Amino acid sequence: MQEVTYTPLTPIPATIKKIITETPDTKTFYFEIEKKLPEKPKPGQFTEICIPGVGEAPVSICECGDGKTIGQTIRSVGVLTEYLFKLKEGDKVGIRGPYGKGWPMERLEGKDVLIVAGGIGLAPLRGVIMEIKKNREKYGKLTLLYGSRTPDLLLYRYEFESYQAIPNTEFLVTVDRGDEKWKGNVGVVTTLIPKARIDPEKTIALVCGPEIMMRFTVKALQEAGFKDNQIYLSLERRMKCGVGLCGHCQVGPYFVCRHGPVFPYWLIKRYFWVDQI
Ligand SMILES: Cc1cc2nc3c(=O)[nH]c(=O)nc-3n(C[C@H](O)[C@H](O)[C@H](O)COP(=O)(O)OP(=O)(O)OC[C@H]3O[C@@H](n4cnc5c(N)ncnc54)[C@H](O)[C@@H]3O)c2cc1C
Ligand code: FES
Repeated sequence: MQEVTYTPLTPIPATIKKIITETPDTKTFYFEIEKKLPEKPKPGQFTEICIPGVGEAPVSICECGDGKTIGQTIRSVGVLTEYLFKLKEGDKVGIRGPYGKGWPMERLEGKDVLIVAGGIGLAPLRGVIMEIKKNREKYGKLTLLYGSRTPDLLLYRYEFESYQAIPNTEFLVTVDRGDEKWKGNVGVVTTLIPKARIDPEKTIALVCGPEIMMRFTVKALQEAGFKDNQIYLSLERRMKCGVGLCGHCQVGPYFVCRHGPVFPYWLIKRYFWVDQI
């Protein structure tokens, strides 16, 4: 049989090992990759999930593992994701990547870390929480602010206690609309910023969520005293190649797939009109 020559664009076969239902339209898939990915994934990077005859979609890595098994949290919204949701443990897909620049983990060392996540935006940030938990001494205070529209849309609820238990961590959750069981905060995620004990002087903020949420969050962080070079955002754009060849994901002079998806705010603020909200 002919040997496959793997390039960074070759999908590697991967088996679905475990599926966790997170919310009515979102599941976390754990993929065991047949051949280790070309590099160990970093928090904030993404892969292209490929299903022959169906299509491809970029998806963030929520659990980096060792490059052999990775976790990805996926909302069913269209062609590829709807097909994926019909697959079962043991079925195969193709995975290419990891692609893009992740969160600035080295810059976070010795600093307090503020994570602001909206909805499925917690998925690309979960790897940062895991890394801080694993190497707790390398980082200062962790503040985790998480919001979703309703309580049933919160991801990883089964892990919330373990987030609370990370030493020197403040974890606040809010929902836009509560239900009869919800006893927590109600309001958009930016309402948590004044409630948290944050020292902007020594903190780096990592933000991911719907674009409108990120715009309001940047504004609230600026009002709280954060400078533009202390804020990082993960952007989402429609992609094709994932590696900076096709131009589909262009934002100004940057390709989200190759120069991002994580950008320091100062670099992309010309293309991200916070002033207009
Ligand atoms: C870096 C990155 C990371 C991501 N991480 C995640 C993640 O962790 N989890 C996750 O669930 N999703 C993630 N996404 C989003 C995901 O890639 C998209 O939702 C993708 O479109 C899903 O593929 P699909 O084939 O299922 O949906 P599609 O069939 O592509 O449809 C998705 C939606 O887009 C609309 N649409 C289709 N084509 C176009 C078009 N040409 N222009 C505008 N709208 C169109 C459809 O009507 C539908 O509403 C990420 C995207 C990026 C860029
Ligand atoms: S998806 Fe092709 S350049 Fe980014």
